[in-house]
Amino acid sequence: MSTSAPAWWQRGAVYQVYPRSFADADGDGVGDLRGLTEHLDHLSELRVEAVWLSPIFPSPMADFGYDVADYRDVDPLFGTLEDLDELVAACHARGIRVVLDWVPNHTSDRHPWFEAARSSRDDPKRDWYVWRDGVEGGPPNDWVSAFDAVGPAWSFDEATGQWYLHSFMAEQPDLNWDNPEVEAAMHDVLRFWLDRGIDGFRLDAIVKIAKDPLLRSNGSAVLRHHEAWSTIHERLRGIRRVVDEYPDRMIVGEVDAWDLHGLVSFLKDGDQLHLAHNLLVTDLPWSPEAFGRSIEDFEELADQTCWPAWFFSNHDMSRAASRFGTDGQGAARARALLLMLYALRGTPFIYQGEELGLPDAVVPPERIVDVDGRDPERAPIPWRPPSEAGPGAGFTDGEPWLPLVADAESLCVERQAADPSSTLSLTRRLAALRATEPALQGGDQRPCDLGHEVLAWTRGDAFLAAINFAAEPISVTLPDAAQLVLSSDPSRPLDTLPHTLHPCEGVLLRLPS
Ligand code: NOJ
Repeated sequence: MSTSAPAWWQRGAVYQVYPRSFADADGDGVGDLRGLTEHLDHLSELRVEAVWLSPIFPSPMADFGYDVADYRDVDPLFGTLEDLDELVAACHARGIRVVLDWVPNHTSDRHPWFEAARSSRDDPKRDWYVWRDGVEGGPPNDWVSAFDAVGPAWSFDEATGQWYLHSFMAEQPDLNWDNPEVEAAMHDVLRFWLDRGIDGFRLDAIVKIAKDPLLRSNGSAVLRHHEAWSTIHERLRGIRRVVDEYPDRMIVGEVDAWDLHGLVSFLKDGDQLHLAHNLLVTDLPWSPEAFGRSIEDFEELADQTCWPAWFFSNHDMSRAASRFGTDGQGAARARALLLMLYALRGTPFIYQGEELGLPDAVVPPERIVDVDGRDPERAPIPWRPPSEAGPGAGFTDGEPWLPLVADAESLCVERQAADPSSTLSLTRRLAALRATEPALQGGDQRPCDLGHEVLAWTRGDAFLAAINFAAEPISVTLPDAAQLVLSSDPSRPLDTLPHTLHPCEGVLLRLPS
């Protein structure tokens, strides 16, 4: 077991708030900062160490805030800078840190920097973005947007006769990080928020800030030319130096790495990221081998300076209960994953609603608003039963910007809080255990063999976790003197040691000392 006490960003969960969908205080159907401040009890009950807010900055909302028009303010839809200060003070008073989303790769096309850049080829800001002449009437190279519906990553600007690069939507032009002025300006954005008391940042699409400066086509090359270029490491070190000017801050990168070697290369030596979101895990099939290999390979490749971060859901992917739910076992699998998140060595990242086991919402075609099909996982949080609170389910008094999940009546926070067998109650128990058990925070992790359908590991000498991945019961032999502390299956009595794990059940046992 590691001897030093874990940092705040290692101890417990970071809870992701998608502000549009968390809680709406002003009745316009879209969540806001005051709504969040009014619901901080929910975060305290979950014992979260930090809350990460998806972007709240002024934005035309083409990509719902990931198109930033001003990095140093709050969009009126979400409130004001003062509302943010109040939220931060209220969180800090409860011992909850606040992490903001920093979007360094691109701005909105309405950002004054881009408006200047596109005004003329001679504008001093022109080189803050990536402009090129086309090739044979088409875009400069073969790079494509991360969003399938967008197609090429280039748009032609009629007025100045050149193409500009956008790794996402045309409304999100890429900044040119090869220009030192851009790097310095973006570092200053970090300082602006750090000076205001922000505790850390989630670095959006971070591998995209380093591209082949020659902008060569990817073709069939093994190396990706449009992202994760070798300059990424020095750029991350520069960002880390800024953050390290302030005590006890943290950066977590959204790292779209091709493999674990790539992921670990952003964490090694302790001078780049503190944490990396491992997107590889979110592509895993529901299989104990796939999860086991991914977890153990990280441990194998990482050295002492690398600390894992685990997440199974966010605002960009189908929720686990739906993703793994085609055979009716989605709810059970989502609960087993919660147990896995809290019992693995590493920082758990929980996406709002995951603690409720929410599935994706059904969004009819006429209500689709996102370019990339991500509306279902962004449905607003049901706080109260619609039968009592009306169709807004306590999220809003107005018309919610997206439909809520179908079963808001029984999945809402109020109902689940009153039910000891609910997913919310399970998550609260897991969080409380993690908060009070040093072995679950910092204990070594070792794999155990409990049969090929079961993923099992120990934490320190104190705990054994086991997940039955099979959709049928599986016999297991557990250490005789162990004590069952928690099961993801509410029907499981805790007073005897199981000989059989239920379908998709996860259990946590205390080992004899
Ligand atoms: C990743 C964010 O999570 C996603 O929502 C966004 O669309 C892209 N980056 C572009 O900023």
